[in-house]
Amino acid sequence: MTIFSGIQPTGNITIGNYLGAIKNWVEMQKTENGCIFCIVDSHAITVPQDPNILKEAILTTLAAYIASGIDAEKSIVYNQSKVHQHTELAWIFNCITPIGWLNRMTQFKDKAGKNKEKASAGLYTYPVLMAADILLFHADKVPVGEDQKQHVELARDIAGAFNRRFDVEYFSMPEFITNKTTTRIMSLRDGTKKMSKSDPSDMSRINLTDDNDTISKKIRKATTDSIEGIYFDEEQRPEVSNLINIYAAFTGKSIAAIVEHFTSKQNNEFKQELIDIIIAEIQPIREKIIKLRQHDDHLKEILGKNAEKAGLLAEKTIQEVRDLVGFL
Ligand code: AMP
Ligand code: TRP
Repeated sequence: MTIFSGIQPTGNITIGNYLGAIKNWVEMQKTENGCIFCIVDSHAITVPQDPNILKEAILTTLAAYIASGIDAEKSIVYNQSKVHQHTELAWIFNCITPIGWLNRMTQFKDKAGKNKEKASAGLYTYPVLMAADILLFHADKVPVGEDQKQHVELARDIAGAFNRRFDVEYFSMPEFITNKTTTRIMSLRDGTKKMSKSDPSDMSRINLTDDNDTISKKIRKATTDSIEGIYFDEEQRPEVSNLINIYAAFTGKSIAAIVEHFTSKQNNEFKQELIDIIIAEIQPIREKIIKLRQHDDHLKEILGKNAEKAGLLAEKTIQEVRDLVGFL
């Protein structure tokens, strides 16, 4: 079975990325040999990036993958731009994807905001590149957060469109899968917004590189409400429910068990326990990231070696696709 997923090397990796994606990858890697975890730098440049910061972010993202438990010998871990077949396949897909399908993508609407006319063409066709990432390796499963579901569905649609256009059964349908306990971690400042690497407020998220004091401060200052007690109600109490969700995702405990545990306890006791749980898991990861980043040459070597492996698989697909499309 082939599993493919990726994260953009932009900003700091958050516990949203960790709980929504990476933790799940580490689980899958235990039983699957065909895992490919990409650092999607070609996706990152759909919005302006400082070149030096982008280079740093690629290395930190790789370090975060490894520190979280991704094994770069067992799985294939590389940065997308090193394997040019991604963009080659994306171009072919651009030519079979109706504009109407792209107009339905909610992430483009969110990211482009009011300035739609000024957004890059790359941002608009971003989901086509994502479909190319997935289909280049004939991935069976794509473990991502809930926010990426629409993009994985588009990849299925594009696979179908390609097969119909060339009257073949070449691409099979990749399947969206998400973490069973957590699908969406929300901002610590606003429980109706996704926790995001690109939120202007650093207080809205916990980064994998945050030190213990910062984690503690961010949770203590996390917005809650004035309702008594700890219980789960995403409609009425989005912020408290988000903290319960985070607790559940780190511990694997059910929401019901957590609520029961805190029935007669105060908000600050709940927050303190949550802080301890987050630190227990994140501190060793942070320490490993820092250590790994002291050996950037080694990290670059890992990217190079793995890109070669990915390139071999990708080249086979591209050759077959070129033939189907009619290129000589
Ligand atoms: P991105 O930060 O957009 O590159 O996302 C990388 C991966 O992390 C994707 O699989 C996302 O679905 C997942 N992800 C990002 N933010 C969150 C969040 N707040 N909650 C759950 N999953 C997330
Ligand atoms: N679009 C994804 C995100 O922002 C990242 C991504 C790019 C991806 N290509 C992918 C995820 C292929 C899974 C498979 O989170």
